[in-house]
Amino acid sequence: MLVTLEGLDGSGKTTVWEALHDRYPDAVFTREPTDDSWYGDAVNRAIGDDDADPLATLFLFTADHADHLSRVVRPALEAGDLVISDRYSDSRYAYQAASLRTSELKRPMEYIMGIHAAFTRPPDKTIYLDVDPETAAARSGSTNKFEQAAYLADVRANYERLIEAEPERFIKIDATQSPEAVLDEVEAAFDEILAEE
Ligand code: TYD
Repeated sequence: MLVTLEGLDGSGKTTVWEALHDRYPDAVFTREPTDDSWYGDAVNRAIGDDDADPLATLFLFTADHADHLSRVVRPALEAGDLVISDRYSDSRYAYQAASLRTSELKRPMEYIMGIHAAFTRPPDKTIYLDVDPETAAARSGSTNKFEQAAYLADVRANYERLIEAEPERFIKIDATQSPEAVLDEVEAAFDEILAEE
């Protein structure tokens, strides 16, 4: 089973993902962008480059996803492991659709979903840590171009669209609560997901 964690920068996603290691020691913990491949390195260069072309950046993130799938996610799922990924395809649908909003693409989110559809492995469940864009920008320190409040407002609207389209896949958690309260809710969600399986 594949469970993904999504949310704006500063939603506390990575803290939750780290805390889950203790609770599910046998799970395969992974992340996008990957941090152990040259594809991930290329993505990180694009994130740090204010002049990076948004369409080129989409393809770098998507290349990293393709490698992540074949190298990590599919083998782990075939071995019967629980896979928990800190960000996954929804990050592209939400973030890159926002960065391509004013591009020549007519429907950026549909376009991005289209290029994934042929090869991706959709998550079974997605935990979405919901936080308002102002809190997200303040918490993340606005250190890169993806962490500005106006941009994050677009990203959040895109996540809302995704949740509306697939309410049964998403579990939305209020991430403005204390870290302990967020973690409690995430753990309860996991108990339910694994019980359903
Ligand atoms: P991440 O490493 O999760 O951020 P952090 O750990 O600093 O919270 O992701 C890096 C940035 O890349 C983040 O701003 C979100 C963005 N991103 C995309 O725009 N598209 C994607 O597909 C992914 C996976 C991340």
